[in-house]
Amino acid sequence: MRSVNILGIESSCDETSVAIVRDGVQIVAQEIASQIALHHRFGGVVPEIAARKSMETIIPILEQVMLESGIDFDDIEAIAVTIGPGLIGSLLVGVSVAKALCYVKHKPLIPINHIEGHIKAIFLTYPHLEFPFIALVVSGGHTSLFAVYGHTDYEFLGGTRDDAAGEAFDKVAKILQLGYPGGPVIDHLAKAANPAAVQFPRAYLEKDSFDFSFSGLKTAVLQYVRSQTKALARLDAGSSAEIFPKEVPPEIADIAASFQEAVVDILVAKAISACRYKQMEQLVVVGGVASNSRLRSKMEQGAQKLNVRVYYPPPLLCTDNAAMIASAGYFRKLAGNFLEGKEIFPLNPMSNLPLGG
Ligand code: KG4
Ligand code: ZN
Repeated sequence: MRSVNILGIESSCDETSVAIVRDGVQIVAQEIASQIALHHRFGGVVPEIAARKSMETIIPILEQVMLESGIDFDDIEAIAVTIGPGLIGSLLVGVSVAKALCYVKHKPLIPINHIEGHIKAIFLTYPHLEFPFIALVVSGGHTSLFAVYGHTDYEFLGGTRDDAAGEAFDKVAKILQLGYPGGPVIDHLAKAANPAAVQFPRAYLEKDSFDFSFSGLKTAVLQYVRSQTKALARLDAGSSAEIFPKEVPPEIADIAASFQEAVVDILVAKAISACRYKQMEQLVVVGGVASNSRLRSKMEQGAQKLNVRVYYPPPLLCTDNAAMIASAGYFRKLAGNFLEGKEIFPLNPMSNLPLGG
């Protein structure tokens, strides 16, 4: 059977990435330009800087991927691009490049929802994974639960009402002066700290709700820090803003571990209860926060009790990447969800774009 190469483009936030994926599941080449170092000193992503940097990097990494893959444009079936949700300036960069390429090379364009892309990352690791499954998407911009019945069939079960889980990690790391992004630092620090040191609130919301809320937890951390004169004094003295600060006072590490424990408890409880509610025995956890080691071990414990098997992509495919977009593109193309010729011209990215209604 003829193999199908899809070129994927991702630029919804602070990563710019291009990839070629064969038959939806095999990465032929991928480049990811991370902007972590650029946004580090601001403690979060600055949208205008992210868009400008993507503009600078996207063409060189496209060239690099074409070179690495050894594939000619004639052997690219179509171009898949993230059209939302995300930062509008960053999205415009990828969408404009995809439109121009499709126009010049006479290729179909496949518009992709970024959240669907995150879920598709699992097929790059487990190509034979069968439906249905529950998907927990936990990243810097999203925290949502879906029941997934097929490659284009998603049922939205719930999502965050305020901050995303990764956003909470980043904001708490900023409060604790641990640098950006917060998730990896807190994950690292928590390994040698006490997760029961502070009892932070866990917002489970209404009974049977699959929604999330993390902003109260973030405020609780801030209030706790303010109430602890000793810890606060050390914070005011200014701790290092390196990605992995070398010397973090133990009480700060304990706060970080206790915060992480609260986030993890909520994510595990909701994901496992979604599996029970839908009577599904497979759980897929994707997005940047899916790399969290405490989340992985507690999810495993929770899942075992229910005979649920948990699947994760490797860390590189948990965070934003274009391979997941190309994979989603392959399956959307099969389903006939693509644009051709003049249909492509009016396409515009959307900063808000729901998946599964
Ligand atoms: O998926 P992603 O690249 O971005 C969005 O689509 O939003 O995820 C980035 C997020 C950041 O908030 C980062 O702090 C978080 O994922 N993250 C982690 C870990 N690694 C990355 N959070 C917790 N533990 C980690 N090990
Ligand atoms: Zn993402």
